Amino acid sequence: MRDNKEHLTARQRLIVGLDVPSVKEAEAIVQELGDTVCVYKIGFQLVLAGGLELARDLQADGKNVFLDMKLLDIDNTVSKAVENVAKMGLTMLTIHAYPRAMRAAVEAASGSQLCLLGVTVLTSMDGVDLYEAGYGFTPEELVKKRARDAQMAGMGGIVASAQEASSIREIIGLDMAIVTPGIRLAGGDAGDQKRVMTPRKAISAGASHLVVARPIIQSDDKAATAEQFVQEIKQASN
Ligand code: C5P
Repeated sequence: MRDNKEHLTARQRLIVGLDVPSVKEAEAIVQELGDTVCVYKIGFQLVLAGGLELARDLQADGKNVFLDMKLLDIDNTVSKAVENVAKMGLTMLTIHAYPRAMRAAVEAASGSQLCLLGVTVLTSMDGVDLYEAGYGFTPEELVKKRARDAQMAGMGGIVASAQEASSIREIIGLDMAIVTPGIRLAGGDAGDQKRVMTPRKAISAGASHLVVARPIIQSDDKAATAEQFVQEIKQASN
């Protein structure tokens, strides 16, 4: 999947994170959101509670599924895992942005519709955390290096905070997707997110897709809130 601005609709740019403990709760959210949402993110929590079956069902129902598994392993293991995800017909998958893992993943996904997203540096990590983990880079340096590496490996996109989106866009150009979490409507509750951005600002900064969970899944009127995000994305994309 490429970040072709004419190709993607505003609705296709909104990814709703199904951050709930059970498939039953996730299904209730999907039902309530109906046609307002067409892309869902399923992460560790739900995958480990039957979420893969749900991912298959959602794709079969015409939704797109972003499987947030942040894979990292030896080439062979990454390759086999990616082949299976591609066979399931899923839409997006995250891989830690290590060159070997990314190259193995890209080869395994070739010919499928799976868009591989590189995770550069987890936004929960600061300079001290990176030093403690043995890296000699600042988070900014490492994000830029890994964005370049992801492009060289042929990845479909990058997961990044909206604050990083514009500098990453300068490095990777217009073709790759930039998927950003930490998005809130103006005046919305930030929760535990330290740095949040509105949909409008994130799209203007170069994000192609926005991941939103709590503001939508905890809303009293989920479909109306999701539609507000879609409309703001639409205005910013014009
Ligand atoms: O509830 P909220 O909108 O903050 O959720 C954002 C989603 O994006 C969650 O699924 C979270 O795990 C994910 N995410 C994030 N920050 C990152 C990477 C992923 O919030 N750096």
